[in-house]
Amino acid sequence: MLAYISSTHLFSDDFCYENNCNKLNWKKFLKKVNKISNNQFSNSWDQELYVRELISIMATLNIKDSNLIDLYSSFKKTIFGFPELTTVFKDDKFDVVIIEFLKGDKIPLHNHPDMTGVILCLDGEVRIEIFNPVENNGSFSGTFIQLKEAITLTKGNFSTLTTQRGNIHSLEATQDCILLDVFTPPYRGDRLERYRWYTRSSLPEPNSPNIYKAVEHKQFPGF
Ligand SMILES: [Fe+2]
Repeated sequence: MLAYISSTHLFSDDFCYENNCNKLNWKKFLKKVNKISNNQFSNSWDQELYVRELISIMATLNIKDSNLIDLYSSFKKTIFGFPELTTVFKDDKFDVVIIEFLKGDKIPLHNHPDMTGVILCLDGEVRIEIFNPVENNGSFSGTFIQLKEAITLTKGNFSTLTTQRGNIHSLEATQDCILLDVFTPPYRGDRLERYRWYTRSSLPEPNSPNIYKAVEHKQFPGF
């Protein structure tokens, strides 16, 4: 089974201009994602296959398409320590979000209830800590979460999550960074209601090196 995916050098063809480019323009990209995202309405939706297919589409997006760049080019810092999030496409099937970090910006631990996500680093560098919830033996009123992986994404790298794995994560930019995220289904309706932030213990549980106590918050906990 495919776990977390990191692929390098996907943007080897950096010299890609709109009139001389075999990569997908923004419009064609959305059309392709729309087509595969219909699978989510099937009872047999294979999320692992979906995120793999999505990666193969995202890897062929012309990230220099002016129609895409225009959607997020008016960068303006609004929250100290937190990146700028711009939803560049949304419908009832999926959202595409551009996240622009300055070095040191963080998105604290949070989940993506009943959602998949594919994160593509367009530029810069970001560190992601990826957790799964684990069974609570009743000794603590909060949640136990297990660190599955800590990765650093650079340009052309992907990270993925599904409803079953890696659904809780935190991000911190180690350099100025731009990410392109596709969330399927999108953050809306009851999923927005069930969206949670987490604060975790700084030290893992004794004899459980990767398991931490975490407390859920409905509101952004700050830093
Ligand atoms: Fe996230």
